[in-house]
Amino acid sequence: MAEKGKLHIVMFPWLAFGHMIPYLELAKLIAQKGHKISLVSTPRNIDRLPKLPPNLTPSIDFVKLPLPHVGNLPENAEATIDVPFDKVKYLKIAYDGLKEPITHFLKTSSPDWVFYDFVPFWLGSIAAELNISRAFFSIFTAPILSFFGPVPVLKGTQEDRTKLEDFTVRPKWVPFETTVVFRLFEIKRVFNSFTGDDDDVPDTYRAGAGIEDCEVLVVRGCSEFEPEWLKLLEEIHGKPVIPVGQLPTTVFDGGDDDTDDAWRGMKEWLDKQVKGSVVYVAFGSEAKPSQAELTEIALGLELSGLPFFWVLRKQRGSADTELIDLPEGFEERTKDRGWVCTSWAPQLKILSHDSVGGFLTHSGWSSVVEAIQFERALILLTFLADQGLNARVLEEKKMAYSIPRNETDGSFTRNTVAESLSLVMVGEEGKVYREKVKEMRELFVGRDRQDGYVDNLLGYLRSHRRLKLEDQSNGGQRN
Ligand SMILES: *[C@@H]1O[C@H](CO)[C@@H](O)[C@H](O)[C@H]1NC(C)=O
Ligand SMILES: *[C@@H]1O[C@H](CO)[C@@H](O)[C@H](O)[C@H]1NC(C)=O
Repeated sequence: MAEKGKLHIVMFPWLAFGHMIPYLELAKLIAQKGHKISLVSTPRNIDRLPKLPPNLTPSIDFVKLPLPHVGNLPENAEATIDVPFDKVKYLKIAYDGLKEPITHFLKTSSPDWVFYDFVPFWLGSIAAELNISRAFFSIFTAPILSFFGPVPVLKGTQEDRTKLEDFTVRPKWVPFETTVVFRLFEIKRVFNSFTGDDDDVPDTYRAGAGIEDCEVLVVRGCSEFEPEWLKLLEEIHGKPVIPVGQLPTTVFDGGDDDTDDAWRGMKEWLDKQVKGSVVYVAFGSEAKPSQAELTEIALGLELSGLPFFWVLRKQRGSADTELIDLPEGFEERTKDRGWVCTSWAPQLKILSHDSVGGFLTHSGWSSVVEAIQFERALILLTFLADQGLNARVLEEKKMAYSIPRNETDGSFTRNTVAESLSLVMVGEEGKVYREKVKEMRELFVGRDRQDGYVDNLLGYLRSHRRLKLEDQSNGGQRN
């Protein structure tokens, strides 16, 4: 039987590391306060999650539900990192197949709350039937959720957005001036997943149904950073919105020998570079540049003359047949000042190294938070999903500089890559970008601030959970 006042929360993130990791960070913060978490995912994903600090292992249960087999999904694919972009929809279909096993788990474990992501559009109504309280936990920040709008727009029952251009202007439900809209080339790349096709439910519908069936929206972010967006989000949905802080990644160093060996070599190289001089280049676990883009990035790095450390994904899973390659002779020509790593690399350790001064990134929010944690200047090159909108948020606040691109097709040249890197890393004009990330550090990753957000969330969860039979026989006392 549950201890008095202790909560049991089930978390069900989408099968992408950019989702699972912030879910796990929130799980750790809640577990530290003495509550119990069941984090539900598939076996191979759970095996790939970072290690827990030993003091938290009794409070976080990893629940492994095998992913149902779906035709067209490559063998062993359990996360977006394992499949090419055009196969992600099959991963969603397989994930929908977890409906029965997770329902069974919720029935038997009878948690106080379930926290679900935007993909399982069916989970809210199931949890409601089981009298389990429901939070839509969004790793997308408030400006992004607000941009996507109210439930009828998300579910497509109100035909507000039918063409690409509808996503490049300020939506009518946003009452203040903002630049947070997609650029044409960005929306082109992701439009299909918003509108869906015959095989799959659109992402926007999924999010809309999830939000419709929740009682509260729990959102990554902090009110000091984006008060107007958090307030607007509450108005749009007519439900409480609770910011949970930026959830900076924390690493428990379990002394893993393999990663230590790999890291040792990298560290030796970084140690030899001048403080703050190195550009760290990485585009997250999902984005893969096209061959033309890769060539311009590489030649731009070469032209810039700056030292760089590049973590390059040439392939999305073994089923990805469109491998990309560095330009002929590139590695040889830059070997004195560049390191290209095509396998896994410890991003947090690299970013924390003194030699790194800037981060050329896809603008995924976890990477942004990590850059700010170590005060690294941000140069952005977006690829997918919400990345373009994240970039606008940062551009507006002069926290990052985006590489100039062709509005229609998103193309860019080696020259603009080189110029952008120099501007932000060393240019006088780019000083503002180097300064802003320092100013924002405390607001983003301050320990007490993060802790306060979690306390506030827990206060809400405690006072709004459903009474269970055992509570009722206690005279309704919950604390
Ligand atoms: C849910 O709660 C309601 C009201 O307390 C109760 O009538 C119903 O039987 C409960 N359902 C389940 C499945 O426990
Ligand atoms: C941008 O790309 C489009 C389509 O490829 C092309 O027609 C146009 O000329 C380009 N614009 C510029 C300014 O280069």
